[in-house]
Amino acid sequence: MKKILVTGADGFIGSHLAELLTQNGFQVKALCQYNSFNSWGWLDTSPLAKEMEIVSGDVRDPFFCKTISKDIDVIFHLAALIAIPFSYHAPQSYVETNVTGTLNICQAALENDISQVIHTSTSEVYGTAQYVPIDENHPLQAQSPYSASKIAADAMAVSYFNAFQLPITIARPFNTYGPRQSARAVIPSIITQIANGAEVLKLGDLAPTRDFNYVEDTCNAFISLLNKTNILGETINLGSNSEISISDTVKKIITLMNKNVTIEQDEQRLRPKNSEVFRLLCDNTKLKEKTGFEHSVTIDAGLQKTIEWFTNPDNLRQYKANIYNI
Ligand SMILES: NC(=O)c1ccc[n+]([C@@H]2O[C@H](COP(=O)([O-])OP(=O)(O)OC[C@H]3O[C@@H](n4cnc5c(N)ncnc54)[C@H](O)[C@@H]3O)[C@@H](O)[C@H]2O)c1
Repeated sequence: MKKILVTGADGFIGSHLAELLTQNGFQVKALCQYNSFNSWGWLDTSPLAKEMEIVSGDVRDPFFCKTISKDIDVIFHLAALIAIPFSYHAPQSYVETNVTGTLNICQAALENDISQVIHTSTSEVYGTAQYVPIDENHPLQAQSPYSASKIAADAMAVSYFNAFQLPITIARPFNTYGPRQSARAVIPSIITQIANGAEVLKLGDLAPTRDFNYVEDTCNAFISLLNKTNILGETINLGSNSEISISDTVKKIITLMNKNVTIEQDEQRLRPKNSEVFRLLCDNTKLKEKTGFEHSVTIDAGLQKTIEWFTNPDNLRQYKANIYNI
């Protein structure tokens, strides 16, 4: 049985991926970021956590990365700082976690002879679409320090393939949503505000469009990359090839939640003009060709499942909907 290290397993996508891998019979070592509360993030409440080996630590530490990957066959590297607004305030920490963290994982994988590494990129590296749908040859545009740090991390991953033949693939998810996502993201922000009784929704720009993916689809797309030898050194978009504006997404959520609310533009939620990514739509041809993977959750079904999860009071109380989360 393969032993898989998932970094960022305490987080939104990482916790779902660690659970799905466990359900699929893999032995999972789940890396949660060390903190003095001994919190394992979303794995604290996961019934599957007892079947995983959980380690707490930090990808910024090369010694730690080398030690935890000693007995591992495959690494899914998801640990990152990901909030765009926070990257305006603390860009150095993004370089340390996202770039140096990725370097440490690559070096540890090389020294420990890991058979496959999946490094997680993001559609944010493309910036506003210059053409659609966006394939893997689309130019990279660093419209935020977050995006810049992921572009650099991706380049580090590619360099380890070119220079040292590290068997690494760059998986590039488009916007992902679902249970457990941070309220800094637009869909949880809308749902938690409505669920907490807001009559006026405070939101940023409603015009941008996104290629939204339900978290289960994103995780299954990750898993479809396992054991594929035709993707080494390659970048693969993980997206649905469908596009919806934030405005239409809000309308769908309001209808599904059956609430009467108005929308107010909140200045602090607007990104600087050149930093806002106005359009993202994924060309997922390469993913389909290389793995045969097909997305299966429609936006309506995914939003419905997400609303059900967030409106459970046990889940809702973990969110601070009355503040602007960055
Ligand atoms: N959510 C999306 O829409 C989306 C889209 C594209 C790509 N991604 C990528 O997917 C990955 C996971 O994102 P997410 O949405 O689950 O975010 P998240 O913030 O929920 O998860 C990231 C996890 O990384 C951990 N982490 C941060 N710094 C660390 C450190 N120094 N050492 C160890 N762990 C550390 C955090 O504790 C956190 O749980 C990231 O690499 C992100 O760039 C996310």
